[in-house]
Parts: sequence; structure tokens; C-alpha cells
Amino acid sequence: MPPNRDHLSENSPLLRPHQHSADSDDESDPHIYRTPRQPNLKNRTIIWSTLTLIFIFALVFVLCFQHLLSDAALPWVGTLPRDPMLAAFAILKVAPVIDGHIDLPILIRTKYANNVTAVPLQSRTPGHVDIPRLRQGRVGGFFWSVYVTCPENQKEDKDDFTEASWRVRDTLEQIDVARSLISKYPDTFQLAVSSDAVVSSITNGKIASLLGVEGGHQLGNSIAVLRQYHALGVRYVTLTHTCHNAFADSSGNPVPLHNGLSPFGRRLIDEMNRLGVLVDLSHTSDETAIQALNHSKAPVIWSHSSARAIHDVPRNVPDDILRLVGKGEGQKDGVVMVNFAPGFIAKPGNASVQAVADHVEHIARTAGRDHVGLGSDFDGIPGAPEGLEDVSKYPALVAELVRRGWNKYEVAGLTGSNVLRVLRGAEHVAKELQDAGTEPIYDLYKARRDIPRGSGI
Ligand SMILES: *[C@@H]1O[C@H](CO)[C@@H](O)[C@H](O)[C@H]1NC(C)=O
Ligand SMILES: *[C@@H]1O[C@H](CO)[C@@H](O)[C@H](O)[C@H]1NC(C)=O
Ligand SMILES: *[C@@H]1O[C@H](CO)[C@@H](O)[C@H](O)[C@H]1NC(C)=O
Ligand SMILES: [Zn+2]
Repeated sequence: MPPNRDHLSENSPLLRPHQHSADSDDESDPHIYRTPRQPNLKNRTIIWSTLTLIFIFALVFVLCFQHLLSDAALPWVGTLPRDPMLAAFAILKVAPVIDGHIDLPILIRTKYANNVTAVPLQSRTPGHVDIPRLRQGRVGGFFWSVYVTCPENQKEDKDDFTEASWRVRDTLEQIDVARSLISKYPDTFQLAVSSDAVVSSITNGKIASLLGVEGGHQLGNSIAVLRQYHALGVRYVTLTHTCHNAFADSSGNPVPLHNGLSPFGRRLIDEMNRLGVLVDLSHTSDETAIQALNHSKAPVIWSHSSARAIHDVPRNVPDDILRLVGKGEGQKDGVVMVNFAPGFIAKPGNASVQAVADHVEHIARTAGRDHVGLGSDFDGIPGAPEGLEDVSKYPALVAELVRRGWNKYEVAGLTGSNVLRVLRGAEHVAKELQDAGTEPIYDLYKARRDIPRGSGI
């Protein structure tokens, strides 16, 4: 699989290995004055032959005797330290983690009643996430999940989902918490609403902060609400959480309602494509995922899902769907960002950093190494795998993959450049649709009775 090296830091030699030096070529440099003279051909030949021999000897030495060089000298020959943990830190230095799903805002709601003033992110929090541990874990960015529960009692909405407005209020409160925390720590976080903004945050030493809405139920069944979330910076919407909604079926309810996407759900995806909001297929039913992969014009994500073949739970992605992800015929580009929830990783007591690496490798084998990422679900999961206890531990996972033979480009894809490629792809599709004059979608959900269906005035 060709490594993906066209993103991330401008000054990252790791991710731009074939970039040529920008040094001016003296042939074209008007400042260099050349006296025309006859070349001494014989001397030249001797000098060049000698230089070539020296170069070949040096190359052979470096290639054959790398193991004699100290770890400190290895970066000079473009090689990683042999110690997997040191190698992990060397890679993460230029390819930090961009996590697809971190639930810090819901923790602020339940533990601090949304009082951002009271949140001490600079010291150790009781959860999985705080600033010192984000830095220790070499995090360069993450999607702040803005999440509101599905109704405990489905009957509240009967089957028509028309009583959803408080969820829009609570989602706005979650967006407020996320954005307020991002601006409370301007030396650490930077709101990012595009792939370019993510790269520039990382280049400036900040943690790029993106927003993702975790369920279509949070839209109040209104495509207009999607547009306004987008205006507030939201860059993905998970089509469902654990409940079915007006747009799509969830994996959380085994009895299907729409058998995948509803017609209104297809319209939602059309508008997400036009705006450049990523379609997130975590939590959806398999039928929803298959139909959305087919319907979306833009690449898609699973912001926090693992591999069903490794651990068989409905929240994980099955192989037949993994095979639909890619750049080939009948496939759609996408990235499956592995969830660390112990219950999705292994049998009780067996979730470990190695087990998470098994999920990463299975997705990489089935969909390709360009299609796997990390979506820990930290602060949204009860417990964490052994060795991956919080956001400070990503280097342990990278070290495990280095031990299993992953090279630096493949690791960089996993940690961040795969999801950046997908985000860039969605931005590209949005621009094309907008340039083609595609109109916004003003369809109303069919069960709405509060707005008279006008015939125009
Ligand atoms: C929010 O937290 C701050 C700092 O702990 C406290 O002074 C303030 O009273 C809190 N506000 C509310 C409304 O609880
Ligand atoms: C969607 O499905 C149709 C029919 O099943 C198929 O012909 C088409 O290639 C699919 N499109 C994509 C983008 O997968
Ligand atoms: C779980 O872990 C225990 C001990 O760590 C091991 O004996 C057992 O085989 C593991 N079970 C599975 C299903 O991997
Ligand atoms: Zn979730």
C-alpha cells in the first residue's frame, strides 16, 4: 500500500520524504556570474569519479552498518530508533495523534454542570483527558464530541420523532462547553474547521479542536439545524446514536425502522456533502452504513468503531463493510477510527494495548492501512484497555505497531493523515457541489405539523 505522505506539517520531513530542496539551482540564478572558460575535462573526470566512489562507500556503510550507529545518530540517516517506544515518539513528533472521538464535553455537563470556569484542565482530572496528559500522549488534534442522549423512553417520541427540540438546546450547550473550553486555553487549543486549519494548528504547536455531533436525533429532524451546526464549526454528524431517528436506523435497536436510510436521511447526506460535514457511520446499523457508503458523494468516517471480526459486537464494523472502504471500483474512501472501549475490544478482562493493535491490524488488512485511524472514545467509556488508560498512552499503541513492523508512513496514516485525507476529500466534494450551484436542501421532515406546507404566496 503506498504510504500517504501528502499532509500534515509543512516542515515535516517524515511526511514529505520526496520533497526536493528549494535551494536555487545556480543555472537559473542571475546572481551567479560565470566566466566562460574551457573545462579541464580530465581533472573533472577524476574529481567526479572520486566523489562518486566516496558516495557509494558511504551509502554502503550506512545501509550495512546501521546497527552500529547510535539511536541519536539515526535520524541523520532517516532511520528510526530501534527501541519501539523511542521510535513511536520520533514518529509522533511529526505525525501527532488526531483522535476521532473524545467525550470531554459530556463529562463537563455531568460533573461540572457546564460551568467551564470550574474545570481545571491544566491539572489532573478524574477522567481520561487533561492538558498535561494530552501533551504526554502527543495529541495534535481531536474531535470534541458534542453529545446528547437518546430518549431513555422511545415512547416519548412515539414513532415520529417530533418532540426533539430540547436535544437541539442541549447540543447547543455542548457546543458552548466545547468552544468555551477551547478559548479558555488558547495556548493549548485552537478551534479548527478545515483540514488546512488542522495542519496550521499543529504547526503552531496547538491541539487542533474539531467538533462532531453524535447522532441525527440531535438535529431535531431538521436539515436547517445541520446548516447552523455547521456554521458553529461542526464537521461531522454521526447519522445515529443508539436510537433510530428520522434519518436512519441504529445498531442499538435490532428491529429496523427504515431498513437503513430513510428518504429524508438521503437528503441529509446530500446536504452534509454540500456543506462539507463528514458522514459518520459509527453507531449506525449495517444497512445504514452500506446505503450511506453508496449514497454519499464524499468520503466517510467511523469516528469511533472497531473490528467485528476481532470482537463480535454490533458497534464494530464487519468485514463485508470494511471491504466497501477504499479507492477501488464500488468502494468509497473512508477511515475507520478504532474505539478503545474495553467492551468493544475483547472479552471481559482481556482488553489491552495488544488487543487494540489487533483491531487496528485487522482493519488495515481488510480495508488497507490508508483506511484506519484512532477514535478512542476517551471520557465516554467505562474503563480503558490495559496499557491505554488515558490520552497519555497513545505512544504505547504506536510502539506496539512499530514492533509489528509498521513503518513510519503507515503509522503516520493511522495517527492522523488518513483522517485528514478524508476531511480534505469531503471539503473537495463540497466545493465542487457549491461551485456547480447546488441549492441548499429545504425539505421538511414529513411528520412535522407545526409548519403549514405552503404553496407559495
Ligand atoms: C463556576 O465555578 C466557579 C469557580 O469554581 C465558581 O466561582 C462559580 O460560582 C461557579 N458558578 C456557578 C454558577 O456555579
Ligand atoms: C450503489 O449501488 C448501485 C446498485 O446497487 C451500484 O450500481 C453503484 O455502483 C453503487 N455506487 C457506489 C458509489 O457504490
Ligand atoms: C483472556 O486472558 C486470559 C489471561 O490473561 C487468558 O488466559 C485467556 O486466554 C484470554 N481469553 C481470550 C479469549 O483471549
Ligand atoms: Zn459513541
